[in-house]
Amino acid sequence: MLEHDVIIVGGGLAGSRAALEIARLNPSLDVAVVAKTHPIRSHSVAAQGGIAASLQNADPTDSWEAHAFDTVKGSDFLADQDAVALLTQEAPLVVRDLERMGVLFSRTADGRIAQRAFGGHSHNRACYAADKTGHAILHELICNLLRLGVTIYDEWYVMDLIVEEGAAKGLVMFRILDGQVAIARATAVMLATGGYGRAFNTTSNDFACTGDGLAIAARAGIPLEDMEFVQFHPTGLYPVGVLVSEAVRGEGAYLCNAAGDRFMAEYAPSRMELAPRDITSRAIVKEVLAGRGIHRDGSAGGPFVHLDVRHLGRETIMERIPFCWEEAHRLLGVDAAVQPIPVRPTIHYSMGGIPTNTDGRVRSSGERLMEGLFAAGEAACVSVHGANRLGSNSLLECVVYGRRTGAAIAAYVEGKSRPDLDEEPYLAAARSRLQGLLDREGEERIAQVRQGFQDMMTYHCGVFRTEPLMGEGLEQFKDFWRRCDRAYLDDKGSCWNTELIEALELESLMLVGQAILTSAYHRQESRGAHCREDFTARDDVNFLKHTLAFWVSEGRDRAANAIKLDYMPVTLGLFEPQERKY
Ligand code: FUM
Repeated sequence: MLEHDVIIVGGGLAGSRAALEIARLNPSLDVAVVAKTHPIRSHSVAAQGGIAASLQNADPTDSWEAHAFDTVKGSDFLADQDAVALLTQEAPLVVRDLERMGVLFSRTADGRIAQRAFGGHSHNRACYAADKTGHAILHELICNLLRLGVTIYDEWYVMDLIVEEGAAKGLVMFRILDGQVAIARATAVMLATGGYGRAFNTTSNDFACTGDGLAIAARAGIPLEDMEFVQFHPTGLYPVGVLVSEAVRGEGAYLCNAAGDRFMAEYAPSRMELAPRDITSRAIVKEVLAGRGIHRDGSAGGPFVHLDVRHLGRETIMERIPFCWEEAHRLLGVDAAVQPIPVRPTIHYSMGGIPTNTDGRVRSSGERLMEGLFAAGEAACVSVHGANRLGSNSLLECVVYGRRTGAAIAAYVEGKSRPDLDEEPYLAAARSRLQGLLDREGEERIAQVRQGFQDMMTYHCGVFRTEPLMGEGLEQFKDFWRRCDRAYLDDKGSCWNTELIEALELESLMLVGQAILTSAYHRQESRGAHCREDFTARDDVNFLKHTLAFWVSEGRDRAANAIKLDYMPVTLGLFEPQERKY
């Protein structure tokens, strides 16, 4: 059996920052990170535009209070305000710490960290490294982990969380290289596996973003919080859906419809292109539905709008947003210095996730915490983003709450011995589950079922939602579970069997998707990213509360599995809910 004091699942920003904090606070602790990719290939590396902090380098009137208000208003008042206060108060400290670690931030003319505008923020407070901010931060963190002797299990897939007597005790994992199954025990386990964008058919997310951490938590009886709030990023490159950073609009880009009009004047006149993402994404979809979208030949009535940076000039484009220029050029042959970029909304971020308190301790219900289990980053819901996240608050959340969670773990494991664990039943169950997948003889391949499922989620739980539309989607789950259980694998081997990983990931995606649709169906209001055409107003009387979605397993007949809902109060205290206008 493998064993460590602490095992962190996920090598992205939240997991790495937590590991660093533990190693800094108590170098004698044995810390491991396990990830299905190499950590420097985690999806955090794709974060582009910036990390928010009220450093006051670009705007001396900024403050943590202004940052907190923008975040709470952006969240449509669903964020927990104690968690937002910590996020925004600690932001300057964690960014300066990154700078001292060696992160190569872009600079002002007098050498301070440069800060740019971002949607929904009232001050220029996004610190950045051109448009490769996640890359710059993650690489520095991983270098530090290697220097500090943190063990890294890269390219291992975690199949299950081991919970006994109400406490997390370890993990069931297997090495992708050769299919070797292993059990790991630890005094504390942390889940930092990122989001689940691959539950939909068009996303800015990496192929690895399949919600595995959420699924293993849910299978262990932990609820998933606020899963109905799924963020569309307004500017996915059409048609592939990869991210064209909000930094492009932060640097002054225009969004234009087929008539060449800057249509955001109709939807958010005071913020224009820098309105929050939920509002901007809806505006783009409305323009397209009204026939003011654009076709590839430039005519009206098409599926995308234009993101126009031509007026910025080639020099600024190449200095501030070189990666976005390169993406449009490499993927579409568009030279953004002389041509507009075709964009439309793409699934980008999960506001919901594994519920935690502000020390990263996982909640097993509205009232209770689970022993030995922690979570942070996009996989978690602390909740600082509520119903809609502001751009550049995600890297910040990973670093602030990664650090806080690391500190809480270091304190938690102090003086505790590693748990007793009999690995045999877990090994046997895991081997039998994997063999069962390899032995299937259905007629469909995993990829076909996944594509059908992603198309269903995109159609039935998109930017605009209604009860009949979501209800029809929910009715399809039984059939999708049956298809998932029968889908066969071409590859029967044990060496680098990516199809086997895809089979396990499909189960994660479907569980997460069922939680999303069920939570969305029952939230009869419009708030942030959850926009109901049949309940168009925000309803604070009935829905100023967090959803908790519990996975109820019916054993072998997975088509009978269900999601049961509970609710939890929102923590207010700083700002009273008010009408959200921009
Ligand atoms: O648009 C972006 O650069 C994304 C940033 C974010 O999601 O925070």
